[in-house]
Amino acid sequence: MVKSKKWILAREFEGEPKDSNFKLEEEELPALKDGEFICDAVYLSVDPYMRAYSYPVGSCIIGEQVARVSESKNKDYPVGCLVQMQSGWRSRTLVDPSKPKDLETIRFLKVPDLGTLEPSLALGILGMPGMTAYFGFLEICQPKAGETVLVNGSAGAVGSLVGQIAKMKGCKVIGFAGSKEKCDWVKSLGFDHVFNYKEVDIDKSLKEAAPDGIDCYFDNVGGDFTSTALQHMNMFGRVSVCGGISAYNATKPPIGPYPFMTIVFKQLKVEGFIVLRWWDRFLEGKAEMKKWIDEGKIKYRETVQGGFDNMPKIFMSLLKGANIGKMVVKA
Ligand SMILES: NC(=O)c1ccc[n+]([C@@H]2O[C@H](COP(=O)([O-])OP(=O)(O)OC[C@H]3O[C@@H](n4cnc5c(N)ncnc54)[C@H](OP(=O)(O)O)[C@@H]3O)[C@@H](O)[C@H]2O)c1
Repeated sequence: MVKSKKWILAREFEGEPKDSNFKLEEEELPALKDGEFICDAVYLSVDPYMRAYSYPVGSCIIGEQVARVSESKNKDYPVGCLVQMQSGWRSRTLVDPSKPKDLETIRFLKVPDLGTLEPSLALGILGMPGMTAYFGFLEICQPKAGETVLVNGSAGAVGSLVGQIAKMKGCKVIGFAGSKEKCDWVKSLGFDHVFNYKEVDIDKSLKEAAPDGIDCYFDNVGGDFTSTALQHMNMFGRVSVCGGISAYNATKPPIGPYPFMTIVFKQLKVEGFIVLRWWDRFLEGKAEMKKWIDEGKIKYRETVQGGFDNMPKIFMSLLKGANIGKMVVKA
């Protein structure tokens, strides 16, 4: 019998996640049947959506990981091969590819050969956050050369890529992040203006950096930031609503000015999305991102923390801004 560990949701989140929301459990995996394989977590992802979604108490915390096959009765997934899958916070996972995919074993695939690149990138720039930036920005904002683009959360996994893609498209890019170190890094990526949103007046900063207004706004944060940003949008501007991390820990829905008449008078296109909308085009997006990495056109950064037993602590620190670029956990 092979033992595995998993983090379960011990208590529903209320406000900021706390240690008491998480419980580490051990389980024994049954003997392998034909077609099945077991894989051991190598890198696990922590992402803001783990706080934004609700799921039943007692279930394994949701999340994606890169894992190495350690036992196999499936010739397509031999020992040693790397897979990525949405199997939750588990140290080991038994996979039966023939089983209908449930919440805990949906979407597994082989990690493609990344050459000298770390397989953790399959959880970042070459995975879900990379595709969020690529499709969520390009498809919804439809940026044009010479336009002004605003992206908040710009030192994060998604935001740092959105700004760089916007630069490649010939746009002027304004970013906001939560510390001097983050702002310096974002500036080094080529953003034209970067502000520490904890220290500046956002309205004043936008007047200064975008005197002619904003054409595309990629929103990771929501809340008051967005209420202010919308006032700076140009006519027929496009807003890609990716997330609203400023409110993920809120105990009451945030109340602000209703944006609808601003949207009417400025004739804005405001569209929310879930990146899986483009799942069938992920290969195309990943190929483009890989090409940009190889050509040195896009940079990425990871904040790698260890190990599996520290998952809750690392996740909680992500929500407080401890990461630069993509936060991953080395099992
Ligand atoms: N729609 C989709 O399909 C999709 C897919 C992936 C991600 N998302 C969303 O995209 C956003 C970014 O995700 P990510 O994976 O790239 O995370 P991330 O930006 O790498 O990490 C989260 C960051 O949020 C910032 N933050 C925390 N509280 C904040 C607040 N009150 N105001 C402003 N910033 C705050 C922190 O940076 P600072 O130090 O700068 O505050 C923290 O580092 C999230 O809202 C996420 O839910 C959506």
